[in-house]
Amino acid sequence: MRKIGLFYGTNTGEVEDTAKIIKEKMSEFSIDLNNLSDCIDDAINKYDLIIFGIPSWGKSELQDDWEDYMSNLNEYNLLNKTVAIFGLGDQKQYCQNFLDAMGIIYDKVLENGANVVGTWPTDGYNFEDSSALRDG
Ligand SMILES: Cc1cc2nc3c(=O)[nH]c(=O)nc-3n(C[C@H](O)[C@H](O)[C@H](O)COP(=O)(O)O)c2cc1C
Repeated sequence: MRKIGLFYGTNTGEVEDTAKIIKEKMSEFSIDLNNLSDCIDDAINKYDLIIFGIPSWGKSELQDDWEDYMSNLNEYNLLNKTVAIFGLGDQKQYCQNFLDAMGIIYDKVLENGANVVGTWPTDGYNFEDSSALRDG
């Protein structure tokens, strides 16, 4: 079975908790959980199947560990790989920039040749704007 590398950054642990839930729910797959704060630069390179997890902390900003790791989202590490992304945010307090960070990661990953999978509908959400929105 091919391994999935799940890489996440977190400030207060919520993305980490979510990563653990994803691993538990996808128990038919083999998923390695990696906190970006402990990762070497090329850590993503050994996986063809990757999940990225990121919280949003401010408009157009990245969580600190993601900010540090961003330069490794390049073609060498991502070309032709399959990537899914999940984000955590607060649609009530931050309705103008709900889940912005997920959109920033999405653009970077796509730009560097990965096949991004797993869109999600906005039904049931209530926010004004988000960089993660695509085609409405
Ligand atoms: C100071 C502060 C700023 C935040 N900024 C945003 C934001 O811009 N957009 C958003 O969707 N959520 C925002 N959030 C909500 C966080 O993304 C959310 O609490 C998330 O679950 C945190 O994940 P973490 O514990 O893994 O860092 C903010 C929360 C705080 C406390």
